[in-house]
Amino acid sequence: MPATVIVGLQWGDEGKGKATDFLSEQVRWVVRYQGGDNAGHTIVLGTEVFKLHLVPSGVLYPHIVPLIGPGVVVNPATLIGELDGLAARGVDTSRVRVSHACHVIMPYHVAEDRASEARLGRAGIGTTHRGIGPAYADRASRVGLRMEDLLDETALRRKLERLVPDKNAWLAQIGDEGRPFAVEALVESALSWGVRLREQIADTTTLIQDALRAGDHALFEGAQGTLLDLDHGSYPFVTSSSPVAGGACTGGGIGPLQVTAVIGIMKAYTTRVGAGPYPTELLDEIGEGIAMRGHEFGTTTGRRRRVGWFDAVPLRYAVDVNSVSSIILNKLDILSGIDEIRLCVAYEINGRRVERWPASAEEVARAKPIYETFPGWPEELHAARTPDDLPPNARAYVGALAALAGVPITLVSVGPERTQTVILDDRPLAAGRG
Ligand code: IMP
Repeated sequence: MPATVIVGLQWGDEGKGKATDFLSEQVRWVVRYQGGDNAGHTIVLGTEVFKLHLVPSGVLYPHIVPLIGPGVVVNPATLIGELDGLAARGVDTSRVRVSHACHVIMPYHVAEDRASEARLGRAGIGTTHRGIGPAYADRASRVGLRMEDLLDETALRRKLERLVPDKNAWLAQIGDEGRPFAVEALVESALSWGVRLREQIADTTTLIQDALRAGDHALFEGAQGTLLDLDHGSYPFVTSSSPVAGGACTGGGIGPLQVTAVIGIMKAYTTRVGAGPYPTELLDEIGEGIAMRGHEFGTTTGRRRRVGWFDAVPLRYAVDVNSVSSIILNKLDILSGIDEIRLCVAYEINGRRVERWPASAEEVARAKPIYETFPGWPEELHAARTPDDLPPNARAYVGALAALAGVPITLVSVGPERTQTVILDDRPLAAGRG
């Protein structure tokens, strides 16, 4: 009953989709366990490009059952749009299941997200404006709607009649300029979503437990990354869910002892979207060059990502809190042509050397990076397939990253295509800690 978790070790956008693609042949189930349509992954299959926000990427493989676990917040309009868009391109979406317990992102959540970010102005978090935070807040306050409510008109109307006046009052108070939400219009939309998704809403926890008992391999696909985790990131500049591997248990419906491997995904440099402290940020032409060569623009918002040198301080933390068993390193090719590559190994905070990821955003904001430098390499890496194909300087850089992480780097990606991959360690990807 292998259960492999794929988790981002940085601020998201590490290229988790390519790892899922690599494992797809071994896997029967792919489960999203947290986040919502703030995530975005682009999958290139032959000549076709698919951009998905909610439907797990496993949908493109006919042998895989894609599940949206109870830890995900679902905007039903987005989900229906994606299912219809995929079906129009000939993809069979009938296997997709969404947990009855997923909380629903309602239009008032999107309005709340926009209004509160606008009110905060420059002090805002830089959210994706998808209503993620407000939907998770209602879940924690136990006033949210769940997918199962879309199938029960009486419960739906009762809950909305209680909640909507409060939402309208709050939205007016925080400066939302839209019209107040009307209960009946919301009930009507929600019921129509329920009619469309009725066949898809299921108890995904039972499905995944039965699958594991039958010996199937399931992949739990994290969205965002460890440094955006509500508990482990630089709060408040985080998302409102648990991207860490533990989130796969609570949000995917498995127990900790059912996880057999945790694959951490990271890029050879760092990027971040939205606000928040970023010690190794590059505000010069080197950063601009990496952003352009690496196409560092958000899939969901189109925003240019902030770019920086690799930071090993949060890496060590991420390896620990996720109990990472192996790492896939992406986008090494993007660093070609840089004369000298920097790697942050510690911070200086208030005159002291710090090697542990600080718990607070204030401390991270005061951190000055302490770098080790590595000679770069001029060669393009796209054609490399074995470790010997990599220039010695590139090998030395990868070796330093693996030593700092303390776990093996098994694959190094040198281009977007599946074949543009260097295999460093041919143990099965889904093997646990040895
Ligand atoms: P939210 O998840 O929309 O509330 O945004 C909170 C923070 O997480 C912001 O800094 C976003 O830019 C960031 N964020 C959310 N989703 C992603 C993602 O998929 N990749 C990278 N950053 C993300």
